[in-house]
Amino acid sequence: MNLTELEKLAKSGEKIAMLTCYDATFAKLMELAGVDMLLVGDSLGMVLQGAENTLNVSMHHMTYHTKSVAAGAPNTVIMADMPLGSYEHDDEAAYKNAIWLIRSGADLVKFEGGGSKVKTARYLVERGIPVCAHLGFTPQSVNQLGGYKIQGNTDESAAKIMADAIAMSEAGVSFIVLEMVPAALAKKITESIKTPTIGIGAGVDCSGQVLVIQDLLGIYSGVSGKNPSDFKTPRFVKNFLSETNSVQYAVSNYVHAVKNKTFPAQEHSY
Ligand code: KIV
Repeated sequence: MNLTELEKLAKSGEKIAMLTCYDATFAKLMELAGVDMLLVGDSLGMVLQGAENTLNVSMHHMTYHTKSVAAGAPNTVIMADMPLGSYEHDDEAAYKNAIWLIRSGADLVKFEGGGSKVKTARYLVERGIPVCAHLGFTPQSVNQLGGYKIQGNTDESAAKIMADAIAMSEAGVSFIVLEMVPAALAKKITESIKTPTIGIGAGVDCSGQVLVIQDLLGIYSGVSGKNPSDFKTPRFVKNFLSETNSVQYAVSNYVHAVKNKTFPAQEHSY
């Protein structure tokens, strides 16, 4: 499946199942399990590198892991995150960094934020780089947002996220990730724009879902050196491994649950 076919599938109403992936072994397993799109997320700073956040992930880290994922899943659409500092300052630098990710095997790039980033999205799209916008909770702004908190739960912030989603859609992005926003807001956004939305903690009515693979397997318990019992699993996470005892089945059960809309349930939504 290529990106154009995947965009068509999403627009046809079939739910898109996406997972984060950082290496070739998991990429191959996910491709065989029917995952529609793999995200080389800068969450690798947390789940691979043991950091508290994604702020120290570099372009070198991202291109290294994108190459690994592309080697394992040559027939699956690959999205790569643009790390902090690689796209905010000027559009030409964003373009050069996006090209680096595309040459490493990504089909499209994702970056965080609306507002001034709409211009960046348009700049890349006009130059042939497919883009995914990331709105709602944006992990690279964790310090500005005051921690890992739901976004869009006031009229003002909901209106801002809606306006950003409309502007990003008009700029021609291929997908919009909505992270940690009320399910009702994600539904309204999804119904208001042509661009497919991918939710994480955004309810079942998005056009698709994404989870971090370590969360799906129930093996992430916070950063190294901290007591795992202090770690609070986010509400939107479901452990699919505990039901099956098989990584392959856990991943394919996730794909089926997204496709038949049994995941996320209300208990995973805000
Ligand atoms: O980096 C990442 O894994 C992400 C997802 C949380 C959407 O951006």
